[in-house]
Amino acid sequence: MLLLLYNVFMISYSEEETILLGEKLGKLLEKGMCLTLVGDLAGGKTTFTKGIGKALNIRRVINSPTFTILKIYHGDLDLYHIDAYRLDGADYDLGFDELSDDGVMVVEWPQYYKEYLPENYLEISFEYVDDNTRNINFNPVGDKYKKIVEEVLC
Ligand SMILES: Nc1ncnc2c1ncn2[C@@H]1O[C@H](COP(=O)(O)OP(=O)(O)OP(=O)(O)O)[C@@H](O)[C@H]1O
Ligand SMILES: [Mg+2]
Repeated sequence: MLLLLYNVFMISYSEEETILLGEKLGKLLEKGMCLTLVGDLAGGKTTFTKGIGKALNIRRVINSPTFTILKIYHGDLDLYHIDAYRLDGADYDLGFDELSDDGVMVVEWPQYYKEYLPENYLEISFEYVDDNTRNINFNPVGDKYKKIVEEVLC
């Protein structure tokens, strides 16, 4: 029964709802944690990250890092926002092992960065349903993130 909790599926009906969900999760994050955001273009990955930024008291506007691969935002915890789309299979270590200990790492398009991901992370997938609706699925990889997923549900 409990196992069902560990693959949590939610529906967001607006951009604002996705930001709120990101904010809720963001408040539960701790140093060294890693989230991977998977899903279609315009699925809501960066929108969700904006909510995380709010929770971490980041003042700068979080936008899509597509052309820069990595953006670092300073807040209560530092946020390392990676968009690996343009790495497209290039074997490129951004050196996160050391960096991310000081903050949290959020990786869009992790399929292009998978060799460098930590062993445990929380995968969140975004599925486009219609203009305003997204299915959002939480899938913890490793035990470390199961508790967070349970808390996000409350
Ligand atoms: N329920 C929703 N949740 C999130 N975004 C929504 C929702 N409904 C509509 N949108 C719109 O969808 C777009 C999501 O864009 P966003 O940049 O967050 O996507 P992305 O997954 O980061 O895309 P990319 O792969 O191009 O980086 C925004 O324009 C937002 O306003
Ligand atoms: Mg994006």
